[in-house]
Amino acid sequence: MSPPPAPFPSPPPIPFTFSLAGAGRVGTATAVLLSAAGHAPVGVASRTPASAERAAGLLGTDVYPFEDLPGADVVLIGAGDDSIEEVASLLAPDHGSVAIHFAGSLDLTILRSLTSAGAGAAALHPVQACPSVEAAIERIPGSAWGVTCSEGLEEWAAAVISDDLRGTAYPVAPQDRAAWHAASVVSANGISALLSAGERILSSIGVSDPIEVLGPLAAGSIANARDAGGGTATLTGPVVRGEIATVERHLNGLAGTTGYAPYVTATLAIIAAALASDRIDTTTADEMRALIEERS
Ligand SMILES: NC(=O)c1ccc[n+]([C@@H]2O[C@H](COP(=O)([O-])OP(=O)(O)OC[C@H]3O[C@@H](n4cnc5c(N)ncnc54)[C@H](OP(=O)(O)O)[C@@H]3O)[C@@H](O)[C@H]2O)c1
Repeated sequence: MSPPPAPFPSPPPIPFTFSLAGAGRVGTATAVLLSAAGHAPVGVASRTPASAERAAGLLGTDVYPFEDLPGADVVLIGAGDDSIEEVASLLAPDHGSVAIHFAGSLDLTILRSLTSAGAGAAALHPVQACPSVEAAIERIPGSAWGVTCSEGLEEWAAAVISDDLRGTAYPVAPQDRAAWHAASVVSANGISALLSAGERILSSIGVSDPIEVLGPLAAGSIANARDAGGGTATLTGPVVRGEIATVERHLNGLAGTTGYAPYVTATLAIIAAALASDRIDTTTADEMRALIEERS
């Protein structure tokens, strides 16, 4: 196990200079937002020339090889999770005073090639789904950020997130980052996967635009959850109403189709959530589970 990064003496100035190493969606978007907030980009390096040039164009700066990136107060390492360590090791060890990565499940040890040379480090995870640079620029403001950083950088990171990125910083202990990220994956990718299952069921009965049917419903569920105390409190539908006959009709209707297995998986998760929040009692949960078990 590597030792934790040494305490960082003083946070970078505001505004600060920054470079971008790894010009992907989140790194480029964050760089654009920081630049718009008055921080000064000094250069971009990336693996693929087109990515580097796109980011440099958006930032009004130049492209460099990783090892020649001009020194800056902050280096944003926008590489994907599997490449952050490699990209950090390509940078001159004294490249920047604070190195930042965006991976939700990783702590600071992955930046050890820079922290062992005295840099501060921050793992700043925007809790947002970013399918493109443009979408990320639009959606990152207003998002939550999971923050793990070198001692002494906490206030600086929170100020940058709230003032410049218009987000909210949530401190995350290094050992909690996997759980922090897992929650995002379950919620965001889980919702997409469930939508996909619903879409396939509607397609199978000839509905040509299933997302137009299910999208407003899903958006309504999320709006309900945000307005009234979360998913647990606002769960609706046959399970929380204890309608075993309706669940049975669904199982009968989907029997033998590709929609059956996702329906069962989702329904077991709904039963567990409803039970954990006392929206149904144990007897009802057991009856529903037994019905599903019988059919499997
Ligand atoms: N996308 C999201 O929804 C999202 C949300 C929150 C957090 N994050 C986190 O943000 C980070 C970046 O994710 P992303 O979605 O922005 O990724 P991305 O768009 O795929 O960009 C990653 C960049 O890393 C560069 N890269 C990959 N392998 C490299 C290597 N071996 N050497 C040098 N550069 C390499 C690539 O550069 P080239 O293009 O030049 O090849 C690529 O542009 C990840 O840690 C991810 O977990 C992503």
